[in-house]
Amino acid sequence: MRMSQILIHMALSGAALGLPSPKPGLGLQTHLSGSQKVSPLRFRPDGTFQISIFEDLHFGENAWEDWGPQQDIHSLKVMDTVLDAEPTTDLVVLNGDLITGENTFRENSTDYVDQIVRPMLQRGLPWASAYGNHDSDFNLSTADILARETQWPNARTAQMVSEPDAGVSNYYLPVYPRGCNPACKSKTSSTCQPALLLWFFDSRGGFQYQQQDSLTGKPVPFPNWVDARVVDWFQRTNADLVRRAGGKAIPSLAFVHIPTNASRALQAMPGVDKHRQPGIDDDKPLSQQAQGWCPDGRPSTGGGTCAYGGQDEPFMRTVASTPGLMALFSGHDHGDTWCYKWEGLVPGVAVEGNGVSLCFGQRSGYGGYGSWIRGARQVVVSLEKLEGRVIDTYIRLESGEVVGAVTLNSTYGQDLYPATPNDKTHLP
Ligand SMILES: *[C@@H]1O[C@H](CO)[C@@H](O)[C@H](O)[C@H]1NC(C)=O
Ligand SMILES: *[C@@H]1O[C@H](CO)[C@@H](O)[C@H](O)[C@H]1NC(C)=O
Ligand SMILES: *[C@@H]1O[C@H](CO)[C@@H](O)[C@H](O)[C@H]1NC(C)=O
Ligand SMILES: *[C@@H]1O[C@H](CO)[C@@H](O)[C@H](O)[C@H]1NC(C)=O
Repeated sequence: MRMSQILIHMALSGAALGLPSPKPGLGLQTHLSGSQKVSPLRFRPDGTFQISIFEDLHFGENAWEDWGPQQDIHSLKVMDTVLDAEPTTDLVVLNGDLITGENTFRENSTDYVDQIVRPMLQRGLPWASAYGNHDSDFNLSTADILARETQWPNARTAQMVSEPDAGVSNYYLPVYPRGCNPACKSKTSSTCQPALLLWFFDSRGGFQYQQQDSLTGKPVPFPNWVDARVVDWFQRTNADLVRRAGGKAIPSLAFVHIPTNASRALQAMPGVDKHRQPGIDDDKPLSQQAQGWCPDGRPSTGGGTCAYGGQDEPFMRTVASTPGLMALFSGHDHGDTWCYKWEGLVPGVAVEGNGVSLCFGQRSGYGGYGSWIRGARQVVVSLEKLEGRVIDTYIRLESGEVVGAVTLNSTYGQDLYPATPNDKTHLP
């Protein structure tokens, strides 16, 4: 072991830090069903629930050089800084590209999961992931990431759609009001309904695990949009939850790594205004679902030259037509950090927006492209504001600063906010 490796090992080893141990013998447990196995998520006594979103952490780059592992140490520092500054975090969301799969070795590619979840384990925080395109590659599979995550008791990531190739991180988490115990199936259980639903979608992408094209020997691309079968599952499951809640729409938030073409279209026209949609807008045009695929389902790399195949339309339709769904949070485009209220028709998109907010977070990791300052979007939900379908959100930067604080209410998009500075940071 070289000195740098010893330091990294010391920095990342959980055993020395008194962390909870992984659950023994769970192996490939891919069907954790929501609230059964672990304590349910709940609002705080003051009626709030706060989510810290880490995205594009990109662990595991160039393990054979110093700078790769150095990046991971700094990404952990970002997570520690943010979580220390946000002690009222109730749930951490890992919104995709946890690991840079094209750089990892088959035999230890999911070891990085234990490093990534350390900041949450140390604070006793639950987390939930929506996987990204870099989480699927020849040497890394999202099924294995899930298996690794769920060895820890704090993991809430699950797989609720088992159709082959529909992706892994498709599931929901209910958040209950304080004092409501859904485990008690008593006569009063009908009053114990979730106050908030968190939906996680797998936008897939990257490459199929351990598959090579039989002719070229190249890795096999994995479609990069939310599968229509997942959209069907979402609609059925949501309808069922709404029925159980007495027919009332349930306030909800959704997470997906790759944004849809609606975000790209809004960015193009009418465009991002630095006071109305405060945030960095450097990835322009942004990269969206179904990019690089043809309408017939062939990848561009397979001989076609398609810019965009349109397969994200079923997902866009459901996002824009689900009562109660307030916002969809994406990562993927490291240089975009704004929120846009999608209302009405936008040039180039057949689907009409219903006022749902489409938000980026802040890229959190030192791996991956770009040197925009790292940070994490915070989402603060309160039972009181939920009645009016209003949520507050801001970005906590690695510098400790808060930027881009906005209220996603009915006048978001008209209200004026300070512009977000566009700072850059580098490995020291
Ligand atoms: C995985 O294995 C590679 C090659 O042996 C090594 O360089 C790297 O540090 C390992 N990664 C982890 C997380 O143990
Ligand atoms: C996958 O992992 C194997 C075993 O460590 C390694 O030899 C190979 O180079 C990796 N392949 C790719 C495409 O990264
Ligand atoms: C996707 O967005 C682009 C960029 O705004 C637009 O030109 C294109 O027509 C859109 N495609 C569809 C099918 O919505
Ligand atoms: C929405 O929130 C902003 C910022 O707090 C506020 O200025 C505006 O009045 C709010 N709009 C409504 C309709 O309450």
